[in-house]
Amino acid sequence: MHPFTITIDGPAGVGKSTVARMLAKELSAVFLDTGASYRAVTLAAMNAGIDPADTVSVLEMMDRTVFEFKHTGDVLKVTIDGRDATEAIRQPQVTENVKFIAGQPQLRSQLVILQKQFAAQFDRVVTEGRDQGTVVFPDAAFKFFLTADSKERTRRRHEELTAAGKEIDFAVLHKQIASRDASDKNRTASPLKPASDAIGINTTDIDARGVVNRMLEVINAKNG
Ligand code: DC
Repeated sequence: MHPFTITIDGPAGVGKSTVARMLAKELSAVFLDTGASYRAVTLAAMNAGIDPADTVSVLEMMDRTVFEFKHTGDVLKVTIDGRDATEAIRQPQVTENVKFIAGQPQLRSQLVILQKQFAAQFDRVVTEGRDQGTVVFPDAAFKFFLTADSKERTRRRHEELTAAGKEIDFAVLHKQIASRDASDKNRTASPLKPASDAIGINTTDIDARGVVNRMLEVINAKNG
C-alpha cells in the first residue's frame, strides 16, 4: 500500500481513539490523537495560572513552552517542557476548560502546525479529532465521520471511567457530553462537521472491531 493519511472525526465519546488506534495497528500506520494537543495547551495554561480564555496570554505561553507527542507502543505520550502529562491532560477540569482553547482560531492554527509537523514524519497516519478531514488534512486518502447516540456515547465513556477507577454519575456525564457536543458543533472556528467527501458510520450498534472492519472494507475496495 502507498503512503496515506486517514482522518477520523466525530463527537466526544464516539470511540474515535479506540478505532483509530486499532486501524493504525492493522495498517502499520501511526496514530495521532489531536484532542491531546488541545488538552495539553489547556493544562499548560492552567498550570501556569493563565485563564484559558485569555488568548493573548495563552499564545505567549505556547511560544515559550515545548509540547511533545511521542509514541511508546500503543500510548501517545504527552510531555510539557519535558514533564509527562499523559494522564493529567485527561483530568475533568481540563475537559471542562478545553473549549476556550478549541474555540480560538489563532490557537487552533498553532496546533494545526504541530499536527501537520507530527504527521509529516510518517508515511502512514491515522489521525482523529473534530476537523481533521475538513481543515487539517483536506487531501486525506480516506475520511471517516463517526456518530453515535449521545446516551450510548455516555455509556461508553462511563464504562471507561469506571474501569479506570473514576466514579461519575451517569446523568452528570451525559450533560457534560451534550455540552461538549454543543461547543464543538456551534463554534465558528473549525466546527465539528463531516467533510463533504467523508464516509459516515453510525456506531451506536457496532463495536470498535465492527467499525474497523467496515473501514478496512472501504480502504481495501479502493486500494485493491
Ligand atoms: O477528543 P478529545 O475529547 O480528547 O478532545 C478534547 C477537545 O479538544 C474537544 O472537546 C474539542 C477539541 N478538539 C478540537 O477542537 N479539534 C480537534 N481536532 C480535536 C479536539
